[in-house]
Parts: sequence; C-alpha cells; structure tokens
Amino acid sequence: MDFSSKVILITGASGGIGASCALRFASLGADLALVGRNSENLENIAGKCEETKGLRPLTIIADVSIDEDVERIVQETIDRYGKIDVLVNNAGFLIMSGLSGDIENFDKMMATNIRGTYLLTQKTVPYLLETKGNIVNISSIVSIKPVPAMLGYSMTKAAMDIFTKCIALELGPKGVRANMVNPGPVDTNLFTANSLTPEQNNQYLSKVSEAIPLRKVSKGEDVAKLVSFLASDDASCITGTNNIIDCGLILGETFF
Ligand SMILES: NC(=O)c1ccc[n+]([C@@H]2O[C@H](COP(=O)([O-])OP(=O)(O)OC[C@H]3O[C@@H](n4cnc5c(N)ncnc54)[C@H](OP(=O)(O)O)[C@@H]3O)[C@@H](O)[C@H]2O)c1
Repeated sequence: MDFSSKVILITGASGGIGASCALRFASLGADLALVGRNSENLENIAGKCEETKGLRPLTIIADVSIDEDVERIVQETIDRYGKIDVLVNNAGFLIMSGLSGDIENFDKMMATNIRGTYLLTQKTVPYLLETKGNIVNISSIVSIKPVPAMLGYSMTKAAMDIFTKCIALELGPKGVRANMVNPGPVDTNLFTANSLTPEQNNQYLSKVSEAIPLRKVSKGEDVAKLVSFLASDDASCITGTNNIIDCGLILGETFF
C-alpha cells in the first residue's frame, strides 16, 4: 500500500485513533494535514510522523464544532498542498449518560461528532471530486449495538452511519467513495476525557476484555490499518459500508 503524493486530512489527530491513523499514513508516504485543538499534542504527533519518512505534516489547530475553523481547515490544507485525496473524520468525544442526562451535553456531542463531520465533508467534497478521493468516517459499534449509558453519543454515531451511506450514494457516480469504521472498545482517552477516572477506565477495559470473544480490545494501530485499507485503491469497490472492528464484541453471548 502506497500513499505517496496523496494528501490525507485527519481530524482529531492529536491523540488516540486519529494519532494512530496519522502515524500509519505517514509510514505509507502520505502528505498529512492534521487537525486538533491541543497544540502540544498535535505537534508531538506531527514530529513522530516526520520521523517515519521525513515528511513534515501540516498542523491545524482547530475545533471542528466551530464553522470558521472548519472553513480554515480546508483552506489551510489547500494552501499547503493544492488538493485533498482522503478525508478522515475522526474528531469526536463521549459524555456518558442515559435518558436523564443533560440535553446540553447531547448538543455538544452533536456539534462535534456529527455537525462538524457534516460541514467539513461538505467543504472538502469539491476537492475530493477533483481527485476521485474518498472519505472514512470513524463511527462506533454503538451505532449498531444499543448501549443505554451512551444514549446521546450513540445517536451521534448512528447519524454518522446514515450520513455516510447517503453521501456514498450521492457521490458514488462521481467517483468518490465514503465508508465508516465502527470500532468496539479501543484503549484511548475517549472515556477518561469526560466520563471515567483512569482507574475506572482500566477496570472497564479489563472487564470488557474478559467478555469479548477474542479476549482483548483493539489498539489504535489496529483501527488505523483498517482505515488505511478503506482509503486505499485496494478498497476501490467498497463504499457505503459499516466496517466493524471489535474483536467479536457484537456477536454477544452464546447460550449453548
Ligand atoms: N476509543 C474507543 O473505544 C472508540 C470506539 C469507537 C469509536 N471511537 C471514536 O474514535 C474517534 C477518536 O476517539 P479516540 O478514542 O481516539 O478518543 P481520544 O483519545 O479522546 O481522541 C479524540 C481526538 O479528537 C480530538 N477532538 C475532540 N473534539 C474535537 C473538536 N471539537 N475539534 C477537533 N478535534 C477534536 C481530540 O483532540 P484535541 O483535544 O486536541 O482537540 C483527540 O485528538 C472518536 O470519533 C470516537 O467516537 C472511539
């Protein structure tokens, strides 16, 4: 797999799955535009990317929930590279809550996880049409498997799935693909950022690992390999699909 001279725009690249995607695409020779809010973390990942093939990524400090920032993400990427081949909509966050949770938290998750994705995709598509590029959206297993304690978050991911399928239908005849990756638990800062203490997170990960068929959770690198496959020409016949990576979690319990 070779992404030399391909321009990959990745949101939420300052940590977790997005950072793993950045490192994966860097190792495959891509030119990168990396987006995040935390400058120190983003520059740290950009430095690691540069170490792999000597290509310094463009770093863009931006919040995908702010419309002006979204415009700037696209403009700065075009100013630097003149084109976009792949958009990875990865920026997202989770506030655990059920039906009684604050509606403001739901609004905030919608603003980043889905509105930001919608707007950035809309602004990027004119460039993807020129390159016959593609989009990979980082959804979640919870868009498919109901988890009541993640009600609002799951709704953002379910929205992302139908968004991806609709744009795959709209853009397919014009040569642009769109797919989603639906990870199960991945060991990142997703839960510790807003919902769990590090101890609670470790307990959750160890408990969930014991219940998963493969008895482990995925790493960011595992997800990044799937993302790079979907973004590559090897996946030229794949569009509009859910791509589950969950170590078998969704299979559930067997009763025999
Ligand atoms: N970890 C899991 O178990 C899991 C499972 C399924 C799906 N996912 C999805 O995977 C994606 C990445 O999450 P993760 O697990 O890697 O979590 P993470 O470690 O918390 O990373 C989230 C990334 O998104 C960025 N981000 C958050 N809000 C942003 C905003 N408004 N604008 C720009 N960047 C923003 C964060 O960077 P800054 O703070 O620098 O902005 C960070 O780089 C999310 O969409 C998440 O829903 C994760």
